[in-house]
Amino acid sequence: MLSQFKNTNLILAPMAGITDMPFRRICNKFGADITVTEMVSARGLIEGSEKSFKLLHIDKDEKNTGIQIFGNDPLVMARAAKIVSRFNPAFIDINAGCPAKKVIKSGSGGGLLNDLDNLKRVLNAVVENSEVPVTCKTRIGFADDYSDEIIDIIYETGIRKIAIHGRTVKMGFKGSANYDWCKHINKFNDVKFVLNGDIDSPRRAMDLILQYPGTDIMIGRGALGNPFIFEKIKKAILGEPINDISYKIWFDTIREHYNLMLEYYGDYGLILMRKHVGWYLKGMRNSKKIKDFIFRSNNYKEIIEVLGEYDRT
Ligand SMILES: Cc1cc2nc3c(=O)[nH]c(=O)nc-3n(C[C@H](O)[C@H](O)[C@H](O)COP(=O)(O)O)c2cc1C
Repeated sequence: MLSQFKNTNLILAPMAGITDMPFRRICNKFGADITVTEMVSARGLIEGSEKSFKLLHIDKDEKNTGIQIFGNDPLVMARAAKIVSRFNPAFIDINAGCPAKKVIKSGSGGGLLNDLDNLKRVLNAVVENSEVPVTCKTRIGFADDYSDEIIDIIYETGIRKIAIHGRTVKMGFKGSANYDWCKHINKFNDVKFVLNGDIDSPRRAMDLILQYPGTDIMIGRGALGNPFIFEKIKKAILGEPINDISYKIWFDTIREHYNLMLEYYGDYGLILMRKHVGWYLKGMRNSKKIKDFIFRSNNYKEIIEVLGEYDRT
């Protein structure tokens, strides 16, 4: 491995409803060095919401899992940071980029980029009350690119790991990610920057790794139904050939994912797993019939049998 790549971590991006313990473990297995929970409501935590607390569970077999929290009130975020610290995450990540209307309206997530004074207060509150390192995941701006200012504010709070999704909040997921913000990377030599947005292939990852050595790579949608992407990028970094995933590995992975879902959620895991199966089967020949079947079935044995008979070639 070339020495300039040895510090490149591959990170599974936080994704609501997706980066739960089962999926994080599957991605760990295929080479994700770091993973992050979905965003957890700070208010939900201080109000004792069972749903929010369930999201904090990190399995002993996971490695380097961070917990992401969101909120707009520094006092609430401070208390949430204390609660989250007790769950021993590798770090607490602050969401300063979520574009969901409800979240922005409350001044949380991407809404923090509309009020940089409050962004500063929220970040400071978490940094002062967390017992683990704090990171921040953000976007390049609310409606336009003022990433320079955002990075400076985050830096002033003492945070030394910053993930940036190269879109504005207003863009949501439209258009394409813009990496112009990377021109600010060299301003600091003690910050680890994380590149995020539209990295969906080893080639795209390698282009960025070569262009911005020493940064980390964060992958969200590119890992859906494709946890193998981490292993493929690792191979690309090592200059090894990248082969298609064999049927056996593909099938065993789905089965393992099912087992983890059932273990973690009970029978409800079968329903939650449906979207993952849809992604695992995406673009495959004759997959419609099998998807229709799986989306209706509540019988694990039956589902595995049908998948086992599927010829995806
Ligand atoms: C379904 C879904 C849920 C997401 N949930 C979160 C979240 O909880 N916290 C967060 O910071 N970003 C969230 N994101 C944004 C991703 O972390 C990531 O920044 C974005 O998808 C761009 O990366 P990608 O092009 O690799 O997917 C979510 C994205 C998707 C598609």
